[in-house]
Amino acid sequence: MIRAPLRQPRARWLVAAGVALLVLLAWAATASADQPDNQVCLNCHSNPGLSTTLASGEVLPLTVDAQVYNSSMHGQKGQACVACHTNISGYPHPKITAGDRRSFQLERYTQCQSCHQTEYKQTLDSNHARALAGGNRNAAICIDCHGAHDVKKPGTPRQEISLTCRKCHSTIYDQYTGSVHGAALAQTSNPDVPVCTDCHGVHHQEDPTTAAFRLKSPSICANCHGNGNLMQKYGISTNVMNTYVADFHGTTVTLFEKQSPDQQTNKAVCTDCHGIHDIKQVTNKDATVVKQNLLKTCQKCHPDATVNFPDAWVGHWQPSATSNPLVYYVNLFYKILIPSVIGGMGLFVAVDAGRRIWDRLRRKKGA
Ligand code: HEC
Ligand code: HEC
Ligand code: HEC
Ligand code: HEC
Ligand code: HEC
Ligand code: HEC
Ligand code: HEC
Ligand code: HEC
Ligand code: HEC
Repeated sequence: MIRAPLRQPRARWLVAAGVALLVLLAWAATASADQPDNQVCLNCHSNPGLSTTLASGEVLPLTVDAQVYNSSMHGQKGQACVACHTNISGYPHPKITAGDRRSFQLERYTQCQSCHQTEYKQTLDSNHARALAGGNRNAAICIDCHGAHDVKKPGTPRQEISLTCRKCHSTIYDQYTGSVHGAALAQTSNPDVPVCTDCHGVHHQEDPTTAAFRLKSPSICANCHGNGNLMQKYGISTNVMNTYVADFHGTTVTLFEKQSPDQQTNKAVCTDCHGIHDIKQVTNKDATVVKQNLLKTCQKCHPDATVNFPDAWVGHWQPSATSNPLVYYVNLFYKILIPSVIGGMGLFVAVDAGRRIWDRLRRKKGA
């Protein structure tokens, strides 16, 4: 997929001239001759059983279901077959160059860019493009997610999105459907919970295994868990965000994110405690944060932690006179003590300064 960059100015000039010529020719061709009508293509291609064999020995079925195509996004807009099959204008066709089925698809999907530049450009900077460039031909291209002749309005219903990813990421999908997020979606098509692309992006997908992604992951959760109106519906506290940023784990992570986003942090982010694709309701007996499992969760990073260790952490709750009273009163003590001390000192300095000025003025008058 990666083409060698053209370094020589002359080569670039020649390519530019070539492109200009092609554009002219194409314009001339459309101006003079009509595009072949889809029906011409379908006369042959709607025949059931039409197929050919590729060099690899794989059979390439050639039947196109006219009804399916006509009800697709493109068919509805009256797109011509040759808008995508730009190398074909009638029969006989040019010789097939792809040696196998996947090469055939990889050659053709790049045609999508002629009308969907934005999406195409975004995919160039995504996990799948990186995997593809690294030689993994199974990484997703446009047609794996959207289809070729049966392109539908994507994301309707919303469950479809995660089902698309399931084709290749079935293990993660299965975890996800068992999670508090996935379960809500499967049962009620709930628009409030995240699907795969809410956390990973659609066409521009960042590598989730980097230090930078780990550091910014709490902000992905914050998109919803910091949203008061949304969380109120479920009776879930939005304090989870404020308290996270304030605690010793979050303070460091937040600081790192601002100052050195590429450095690895060993402090806990949301997913270290709650899980990633398998996040459970916090009262679920299998939740990583439920009382009986919490110690094990802390021990991932605090191997010497004993039974009482989790109590050292006030959790997401703002300390109050009833929950964690000790922390609350210590905080309160400092809240009163510190302003009193600083305020007192300020007052002392001011009074002292006033006194000196007054004295000096009096001395001047006397002299
Ligand atoms: C006379 C019958 C006939 C007509 C008309 C026809 N095709 Fe084909 N097409 C074939 C056959 C047979 C093959 C198998 C490969 C070959 O013989 O070149 C094929 C192969 C193909 C392929 C797969 C191979 C490749 O080169 O990509 C595509 C795509 C295709 N046709 C599209 C079209 C389009 C678009 C039209 C209308 C402009 C069209 N065909 C018109 C018979 C036809
Ligand atoms: C939106 C772009 C687009 C349009 C419009 C389109 N095709 Fe295709 N077509 C593709 C792509 C991409 C492939 C490769 C898909 C694959 O192999 O999985 C393909 C594959 C084919 C093949 C090879 C067999 C197959 O189904 O994979 C035939 C034959 C074909 N197209 C004919 C047609 C005909 C006839 C029409 C018009 C009725 C048409 N195409 C319209 C994009 C398009
Ligand atoms: C010749 C131009 C053209 C080509 C080539 C083309 N498309 Fe489209 N596509 C369109 C048009 C026009 C629409 C309808 C847009 C609309 O209604 O908003 C559309 C709609 C779509 C939609 C739905 C968009 C939405 O907003 O719901 C998807 C997904 C899509 N195309 C994918 C593809 C893929 C994948 C390919 C390559 C196999 C492709 N397109 C090739 C013109 C094209
Ligand atoms: C990994 C799967 C995947 C791949 C690969 C992919 N898309 Fe999409 N695409 C989606 C999903 C999912 C949506 C719907 C997003 C939503 O509704 O939130 C979408 C939406 C779209 C839309 C509708 C407008 C928009 O941006 O929301 C177009 C057009 C489109 N894709 C074209 C393409 C083209 C062209 C390619 C290849 C260059 C491509 N897609 C590659 C999954 C994919
Ligand atoms: C056609 C198969 C296919 C589909 C469909 C697909 N993927 Fe992928 N995906 C891959 C392959 C292959 C890789 C590369 C795996 C690797 O390098 O370990 C990959 C990599 C990824 C990665 C990076 C993983 C890593 O370890 O770096 C993420 C994240 C991802 N996909 C998310 C998605 C999402 C979200 C969707 C749905 C919108 C989706 N994928 C749809 C095949 C697919
Ligand atoms: C609530 C947010 C969220 C949702 C929803 C989500 N992911 Fe992830 N995903 C993450 C995070 C965070 C990571 C990075 C985990 C880490 O630190 O290793 C990740 C990692 C990944 C990876 C690479 C690491 C691995 O385990 O292989 C893939 C692939 C992936 N996700 C695919 C998916 C797919 C497919 C879906 C939908 C079924 C999905 N994700 C839903 C947040 C999410
Ligand atoms: C798109 C919005 C969205 C995103 C992004 C999101 N969540 Fe959620 N989350 C929800 C909603 C809505 C619920 C309530 C679902 C229900 O109860 O049916 C929920 C439930 C939860 C629960 C269960 C709370 C309880 O009731 O016990 C936890 C824990 C959770 N999410 C953690 C996370 C973490 C960690 C992340 C980031 C990796 C995250 N969420 C990302 C929307 C989101
Ligand atoms: C050090 C471990 C840890 C970290 C880090 C952590 N949590 Fe929690 N979380 C817990 C525990 C334990 C509970 C259950 C007890 C409680 O509510 O304090 C909980 C409860 C929750 C709840 C349920 C609150 C409710 O109202 O029922 C949500 C939602 C949640 N966390 C989201 C997050 C998000 C989002 C992040 C990151 C910004 C995060 N958590 C970071 C351990 C953690
Ligand atoms: C992903 C790893 C990770 C997880 C999981 C984790 N922590 Fe931490 N935690 C750290 C790191 C790293 C520090 C900083 C240690 C230092 O600087 O000495 C820390 C510091 C602390 C401190 C400050 C006192 C000290 O020991 O330095 C407390 C208290 C604490 N964690 C409690 C918890 C509790 C309770 C849990 C489980 C609910 C938990 N942590 C889960 C990584 C983690």
